[in-house]
Amino acid sequence: MSQQQNQLKQQVAAAALKYIDEGMILGVGTGSTVNCLIDLLPQIKLKGAVASSQVTQDKLEALGIEVMDLNYVGELDLYIDGADEVNPNLQLIKGGGGALTREKIVAAASKQFICMVDESKWVTQLGREFPVPIEVLPQARSYVARELVKLGGEPVYREGFVTDYGNVILDTYQLDIDSASEMEQILNNIVGVVCNGIFAANQADTLLIAKQSGVETLKR
Ligand code: 5RP
Repeated sequence: MSQQQNQLKQQVAAAALKYIDEGMILGVGTGSTVNCLIDLLPQIKLKGAVASSQVTQDKLEALGIEVMDLNYVGELDLYIDGADEVNPNLQLIKGGGGALTREKIVAAASKQFICMVDESKWVTQLGREFPVPIEVLPQARSYVARELVKLGGEPVYREGFVTDYGNVILDTYQLDIDSASEMEQILNNIVGVVCNGIFAANQADTLLIAKQSGVETLKR
């Protein structure tokens, strides 16, 4: 990552911090942008946090922030996470870090989802450059890959990577994502798919996008 991109990530994380209230239970995403936010969290007295990955959980706990089980905290007021791509409808591709399933669960369980990105993540159509990560039960890997090829996709097995849930990831290129909502559902309907990295049903409510000129805010 260039120094410039790193600076943009820090700027957008600082902008996101302003949305967090004292005493909140915060949903916390995964990735290098979120890591910039985690570094700032000690400035706010949270009641606790729900982590979207083991990596995030470890970082939060290292700072003394209590990590809670989503099953016992009910609906969250706020989830903050990054993304690999975002389109003008604030629909996303996520899962570059492999945490897509837990990220989608926490996003779904939150009243508001704020997504933080630097301007390199902005696209007019999802999936043209970044592949769609698809979490798959290990036994179904070859079957799901064949189904993805029938859809025009080019699945690539993420070698040596196992998700927090013990599954594998197929990074899928060349899917024609004219409608992100439709493609999300089509992928979900393949037997053996646990979750896919298109966030259309759980798109961002607010997008913070860091540009050289400053951080812009878009709402849906
Ligand atoms: C992890 C994700 C991340 O949000 C996404 O990969 C963006 O990461 P980064 O902030 O490092 O660019 O979906 O599964």
